[in-house]
Amino acid sequence: MDKKIKIALIFGTRPEAIKMCPLVKKLKENIFFKVYTIVTAQHRQMLDSVLELFEIKPDFDLNLMKPNQNLWELSSDILLKTKEIFEKENFDLVLVHGDTTTASLSALSAFYSRTKIGHIEAGLRTFDKNYPFPEEINRVLVDSVSDLMFCPTDKAVQNIINSGIRKGYYKTGNTVIDALFYVVNNKPVNLDFIGLNNNLKTVLLTSHRRENFGKPLENICLAIKELIKKNKDIEIVYPMHLNPNVRNTVIPILKDTERIKLIEPLDYAPFCTLMKKSHIILTDSGGIQEEAPALGKPVLVLREETERPEAIEYGGVELVGTNKKKIINSVQELLDNKEKYQKMSKAINPYGDGHACEYIEKIILDYFHQD
Ligand code: UD1
Ligand code: UDP
Repeated sequence: MDKKIKIALIFGTRPEAIKMCPLVKKLKENIFFKVYTIVTAQHRQMLDSVLELFEIKPDFDLNLMKPNQNLWELSSDILLKTKEIFEKENFDLVLVHGDTTTASLSALSAFYSRTKIGHIEAGLRTFDKNYPFPEEINRVLVDSVSDLMFCPTDKAVQNIINSGIRKGYYKTGNTVIDALFYVVNNKPVNLDFIGLNNNLKTVLLTSHRRENFGKPLENICLAIKELIKKNKDIEIVYPMHLNPNVRNTVIPILKDTERIKLIEPLDYAPFCTLMKKSHIILTDSGGIQEEAPALGKPVLVLREETERPEAIEYGGVELVGTNKKKIINSVQELLDNKEKYQKMSKAINPYGDGHACEYIEKIILDYFHQD
C-alpha cells in the first residue's frame, strides 16, 4: 500500500469521547493510517475533560455547543460544518460513534460526501422510536448509511442482520471497556474532595435522558428522597449533567437534603473510582450500564426500555423504569436482600474484553487491503 488510509474520527459528547479516545490512540499507532480527530463540541466542558484525560488535541474543533441547544439548530450546524471539512479533506473513512446528534448528522454528511462510513457501537436497538429519544432513530440512520459496523455483542450483530444488512458487520466488544480498564489501571484518583462518609453505603445516581425530562425525573428525585429518609445507612451521590433541563428539576427537589450530595459532573477518572466505591448504581445512562457490570456493581436502570439487554440477561442489571413506587421497592429490595445483591454483583460483563480497539483496527486494515 503506497498511500496512507485517511481516517477521521468524529465525536461531540462526553460518552462518545470516552469511547472514541482509546480508538484514536490505537489507530494513530498504525503506520498505514493517517488519523484525524474532529470534534463537533456538541458538549464543551464535558468533552474537554475527556480530551484532556486521554491527551488528545483535535485537528478540527467545530465548537458548536450553545446553552440549552435544540436538535434542529445543532443538526443543521453539524451538517454544514462537516460538509466543509469532508469536501476539503476527502477522507477514505469517517468513523462515528453511537446514537447522538453528532453521530447521525456526521454520518449523513459523510454519506452525502460519498465517503465510506464506519459505525462504532453499531446494532443497538430498543425498536421503540421514542425510547430513547431521539437516539433510537439516530442509530438506525447511522447503521443504514454505514459500510462498516462494529457491534459490541452478538445481539447487536443479530439486530443488524435482522434489519436486512448483508455485509460489513463485525462483533468487536465495546470500546468503553478499553477506556474503563485504561483509566482504572493508569489513573488512580483520590475521592476526598467529594467528602463521602465511609460509614455509609454509597448509592450513585445519574439521570439525563431527554425522555425522562419533567415528570419521570421528578419521580426519580421523589423516590430518592423517600429512600434516604427510610435508610439511615446510605448516602446518595448525584453528579448532575450540565443540561439545564436536568438541573431545573433536580435541584429544587433534592437540594439541602441530608445525605444527598448533588455535585458537578465528575471527570472520567474520578467517576470510575466512584463507581468502584459505590454499593448500588441507579442510572438512565447508556455507558454506565456497560461499565458497572465490568466493575461488579449492580445497576438499576431508570428507563422504560434499554438497548443494552445483555447485562439484564447476565443478571447484573435490572430495568426499573421511572415509576416512583417501583424505584423505591427495587432499591429497597437490593439494599435488604443480601443474596440478590451478591448475585447481581457477581454477574458477568457481556460488553467486551478491553481489546475492542485492536479488533477494530485490524478490521479496517483488512477492509482497505481487500479494495
Ligand atoms: C446528549 C445526547 C445524548 C447523550 C448525552 C450524553 C443527543 C440528542 N443527545 O444529550 O444521546 O446520552 O449527550 O451526556 O445527541 N451542556 C453544557 N456543557 C456540556 C454539555 C452540555 O453546558 O459540556 C448543556 C448545554 O446547555 C447544552 C445542553 O447541556 O445545550 C444539552 O446538551 P445536548 O448535547 O444537546 O444534550 P444532552 O442532554 O447532553
Ligand atoms: N461519566 C463521567 N462523569 C460523570 C458521569 C458519567 O465521566 O459525572 C461517564 C460514565 O462513566 C460513562 C459516560 O460518562 O462512561 C456516560 O455518559 P452519559 O451518561 O452522559 O451518556 P450516555 O452513555 O447515556 O449516552
